[in-house]
Amino acid sequence: MEGLKIVVIGGGSSYTPELIDGFIKRKEELPVREIYLVDILEGERKLNIVGNLAMRMIEKANLSTKVILTLDRKQAIKDADFVITQFRVGGLFARARDENIPLRYNVLGQETTGAGGFAKALRTIPVIMDICKDIEELSPKAWLINFTNPAGLIAETILRYTNIKAIGLCNVPINMKNTTAKMFGVEPERIKMDFIGLNHLSWAKKIYLDGEDITKEVIEKNLDDESLNMNNIHNLNWDKDYLRGLNMLPSPYLRYYYMMDEMVEKQKQDVEGGKGTRAKQVMKIEDELFEIYSDQNLDIKPPQLEKRGGAYYSEAAVSLISAIYNDKKEVHTVNIKNNGSILNLDKDVVIECNAMVDKTGATPMVIGNMPPIISGLVNHAKAYELLTTEAGITGDYVKALEALSANPLIPSVTIAKKILDDILRENKKYLPQFSR
Ligand code: G6P
Repeated sequence: MEGLKIVVIGGGSSYTPELIDGFIKRKEELPVREIYLVDILEGERKLNIVGNLAMRMIEKANLSTKVILTLDRKQAIKDADFVITQFRVGGLFARARDENIPLRYNVLGQETTGAGGFAKALRTIPVIMDICKDIEELSPKAWLINFTNPAGLIAETILRYTNIKAIGLCNVPINMKNTTAKMFGVEPERIKMDFIGLNHLSWAKKIYLDGEDITKEVIEKNLDDESLNMNNIHNLNWDKDYLRGLNMLPSPYLRYYYMMDEMVEKQKQDVEGGKGTRAKQVMKIEDELFEIYSDQNLDIKPPQLEKRGGAYYSEAAVSLISAIYNDKKEVHTVNIKNNGSILNLDKDVVIECNAMVDKTGATPMVIGNMPPIISGLVNHAKAYELLTTEAGITGDYVKALEALSANPLIPSVTIAKKILDDILRENKKYLPQFSR
């Protein structure tokens, strides 16, 4: 059959218009026959609202692409060319718990880093493993593009425990590139960044404008309030001496590590002041978004979606799919196995790196050694990720305790145990592997 079959798991997400917009923008290079938006029963209402908006957007763009809304995941996955995963097990209520539980113990409560990301990983691993099984069985040639958080850890799980063709993706690298381009008043294509590290724990080691090294200038521009950030992260300023010494541009998520105490303080203030954690804020934004999406006259991606942290999400996903489909041999920043990109790190662990993308997938480009200023943290976080992956698969309590204790943002085994017990109790419904 002519054209591509694209499947989006978590199709009822408020981000779906972003993705549809990406396919519309690349209609000349990506012939998409069908887009299956898949969700579960609890997400059916959202799926219908956002799915109908997707259909109106496609119609307005004069495309013949069929949008199919379904709760039947297996039927959707059958013979797919690309499967995109962007789901959230337990929805925003589970995210709220992830953010609140650690704060009880004065520990950072965040969706993807620290204990919150750990809880999200435990909920996500059984589901992603099921999806991978479906792909192995029903569309073994399909590419899986995973956005589901914690994206690095989930990519680690998929690439360690399954045989499918998968690439992990995040919008942070493209965001860092595009925001830097804006700061310099140039087109993003003229900026090149060499990334090193893990997902949500990465640095642009060198930054170039038209081939010229501008790393130092970029660092200087990031020393004040106007520094590069994301909508979902408190904009605390970096320590000037440290950043100049580092001479690499940290991902906005490094704020959680470099300024851990202040970030916890900010989160506590939000909760005590009634603003709530990010989940509570996002629930409000989502209500507004779905109200807007319900308007039968709306047939474009509404600007209000930009209040979310996922800016440039569609660009990252659709340009990657196009690079594979069109055999472009183009550089993308992705989450894949190291395989010699970072020389002083195990070959078989997943990192976030620049890779050459063509029809065979993503091949990591060599970045060299991690300098000591980052290698300790990266190794620490990778040990945590590997232990969490194992705990998520096996449901072994001791392994889970080891994993959480190994997280760089967790102060002690004593605290890890308290948080772990709360997480297991409050997420029982979503953690079948721990009940076996
Ligand atoms: C950034 C991160 C994503 C994360 C999002 C949260 O884009 O890279 O991994 O999901 O922020 O945004 P939200 O609006 O849900 O807080």
